[in-house]
This record gives sequence, C-alpha cells and structure tokens, in this order.
Amino acid sequence: MLELHVNGGTYRSGAAVGRSLAETLREELGFTGTKIACNEGHCGACTVLLDGVPTLSCITLAHTVAGREVTTIEGLREHPLVDAFVRADALQCGFCTPGQIVSAAALVATNPSPSREEIRHAMSGNLCRCGTYPRIEEAIETWQG
Ligand code: FES
Ligand code: FES
Repeated sequence: MLELHVNGGTYRSGAAVGRSLAETLREELGFTGTKIACNEGHCGACTVLLDGVPTLSCITLAHTVAGREVTTIEGLREHPLVDAFVRADALQCGFCTPGQIVSAAALVATNPSPSREEIRHAMSGNLCRCGTYPRIEEAIETWQG
C-alpha cells in the first residue's frame, strides 16, 4: 500500500508500480481536476505541485511521490488566481485551465508581481489549444485584484 499526501490529506493507494500520478489522482483518488491530454509530458494539462514545484503528473510515477506533498487544482480552490482567471476571461474550453492555474500559483508564490516576460517563461510548459495566452497573462498580472 502506498501513502500519498494530497491537498493536505493522507490517502492510501493500491496503485501498481508503474502507474502514473495523474491516473492515480483521477481514477483512484477522485481528483479529476487534474487533466490528462497528451499523456507524454508535452502539454502541461496534468500539472500538479510536488512540494510546491510544478510537476507533470502524467510522467511521474505515483510510487515516487510517497511522503511528498502533492497539490492539485482542488487544493487551490481558494487561491485568488481562480477569480483572476474568471475576471480576465482567461479560458475558452477550460481543459488546460487547471494546469495553467497550478503553474501560475507556483510562480506567484515566489514572484507575486511577475513581468510579462517572467510570466511567459514560467508558463511556457502549459499549452492552450484555444489560444487564450494573452488573457492568461493578464490574469496572472492582475491576480492580486
Ligand atoms: S497530459 Fe501531462 S504533459 Fe500533457
Ligand atoms: S482554454 Fe481550451 S485549451 Fe486552453
């Protein structure tokens, strides 16, 4: 049995060795806010925080995160970035949005007032097929209200 720390809670998981963190979060623990798109580490849809660091959960094995703190979009419900994304209308289909907000949360945790260049650099691993990049940047720039 594997013990996982997710969003401040402790969960026991029967995930087989080799199962990804993304699949374990979604299918076993019910944290379906984490999305799986490419499933190959290219798009950022599955981004979660691992001890505060943005991490691609589709290419991270569940067994490698035992004892570490995983934060998914569900753990960021109260983060002001959520409102900022709504205010800036920073989503269209919304599929990439959880991963975008998770990455943005890591950025503003260490740099609360990032420049556009810093935002683009920090968010470069999160793709948006709807092309909402300018509004995502606006949301991150104005997240403090
Ligand atoms: S689903 Fe993980 S990077 Fe695309
Ligand atoms: S809002 Fe549709 S992929 Fe980003």
